[in-house]
Amino acid sequence: MKKIADILTFELEAAFEKAGYDKQYAKVTLSNRPDLCEYQCNGAMAAAKAYKKAPIMIANDVVEVLKESVCIEQVEAVNPGFINIILDGEFVASYLGKMSEQEKLGVEEPTKQKTIIVDYGGANVAKPLHVGHLRSAVIGESVKRIGKYVGHKMIGDVHLGDWGYQMGLVITELKKRKPELPYFDDQFEGEYPEESPFTELEEIYPTASAYAKEHEDYKEEALQATFLLQNGHRGYTAIWKHIMNVSVADLKKNYGALNVEFDLWKGEADAQPYIPEMVEYMKKEGYAHIDQGALVVDVKEENDTKEIPPCMILKSDGAALYDTTDLATLIEREKLYHPDEVIYLADKRQELHFVQVFRCAKKTKIINENMELKFIGFGTMNGKDGKPFKTRDGGVMRLESLINDINEEMYKKIAENRTMSEEEARKTAQMVALSAMKYGDLSNQAAKDYVFDVERFISFEGNTGPYNLYTIVRIKSILAKYAESGKDAAKCKMKKPQTQSEKFNNVIEIAFEELAPHKICAYIYDLSNAFNRFYHETKILSEENEDRKAGFIALLLITKRALEACIDMLGFEAPERM
Ligand code: ARG
Repeated sequence: MKKIADILTFELEAAFEKAGYDKQYAKVTLSNRPDLCEYQCNGAMAAAKAYKKAPIMIANDVVEVLKESVCIEQVEAVNPGFINIILDGEFVASYLGKMSEQEKLGVEEPTKQKTIIVDYGGANVAKPLHVGHLRSAVIGESVKRIGKYVGHKMIGDVHLGDWGYQMGLVITELKKRKPELPYFDDQFEGEYPEESPFTELEEIYPTASAYAKEHEDYKEEALQATFLLQNGHRGYTAIWKHIMNVSVADLKKNYGALNVEFDLWKGEADAQPYIPEMVEYMKKEGYAHIDQGALVVDVKEENDTKEIPPCMILKSDGAALYDTTDLATLIEREKLYHPDEVIYLADKRQELHFVQVFRCAKKTKIINENMELKFIGFGTMNGKDGKPFKTRDGGVMRLESLINDINEEMYKKIAENRTMSEEEARKTAQMVALSAMKYGDLSNQAAKDYVFDVERFISFEGNTGPYNLYTIVRIKSILAKYAESGKDAAKCKMKKPQTQSEKFNNVIEIAFEELAPHKICAYIYDLSNAFNRFYHETKILSEENEDRKAGFIALLLITKRALEACIDMLGFEAPERM
């Protein structure tokens, strides 16, 4: 369905022309000041220059013509030259009526369906998932779902960190503890054991990492082990597989609890087969050169305002680096999926890395020149003290404990004064807690740091996940009562509304274009507020005029559908009651 903003633009184009101005100035957008109007056109300001006339005069001329429009109830010219528009109720009602007949509530299929890979999650194998990975998972999942809703082919890839130094560290520490294992016997030619050599994977990495910082020879050994692993050492590859099995099972559980699902469980290691050829190619074509022993590709550009160091392809010891695996992964992605676009999520402090990788990939032409590469860098999740989020005793917070804590808090709240079975209360608490956590994160612009304030996030009032869920639950309960009276909500005809639902397709489009889940959060908060105002001002079920009542019900139904579609794009869902 055409967006209302586009329908209005069309009307304004005619009005601009009728008033004697060019129609290029007629663009209408959602209002920045919803307290004043629903839609706005700022074109008079630009037109003023061309026509050497005060913008307000131009706006007034256009407004005069627009008074005849059937879709507009109120239109005014406001200083210095804004055109503020409030829609006609009948027009909105009929628009909503058509919207409700469509599965995607008026969101049109894209003219060209793109294949888009979202690279998110990014957990590091052998290290426990910590809260820093929460943001990647939560924002990435939402971006993926928004793209899918809009109609693109979205592929989510967890892109595990499974090929770096941490693997060498774990191998080295295992060797120190159990040197008798066959993995460390170069003469061994038999089958390696099926059972994992680890019972202590959680502890082994931090221990090894700390030890390496103090002991140079140990560190050397770990670097050497990393190199050997990357070059196909048989025993180390077998250890690596064990680490992967244990880790991935654990990660799947954790991501599952967050309602985060990946289409691909690939990692840096999957890029390895592409590395030797890539290196050869970059050398042969003259892109790469040796700099202080390392193989690098220069990526600085003329207009750079700050120093962009070269992209590192191989370390002086020949080992692959973070840049290397990301580049080779692009080759793999191009080959296997032909994506039109790849979107990466990582801490915004990794921005330079992505600038280097993107430039290098384009410059060396290892990817299709039309492939778009985008980076969503997110800010830090802080505690109430404004410092990175920690446990009470100052340690790194494990994601699992964070989720458990919030579930527990929410359970207490829900169990407090409600008559639900223990089982239902637990399940409901989990759903609501997830909304609290995800909405708490997603409602902020991704690049900003934010304060993870559990108390605020789990509140049923204010701009929170639970508040929005509560709105849905409220609508569901009214609709259920209406159905109990033997009537069909789906057959209700839309009446003059008090809603924001008609903006749905516009908001979703913007959220996708700007890769901005926070815009969907802001929208559902408005929508929930609009609905709750309406709910408090209106007798819905006790309305005696059946026709009017049906109009209210139709409105409820579409509000519910819009809210549910939005929370699904944010990655959580609403319970039946709470
Ligand atoms: N494993 C990385 C980390 O924990 C994040 C990976 C992001 N994705 C990528 N393709 N580099 O920092």
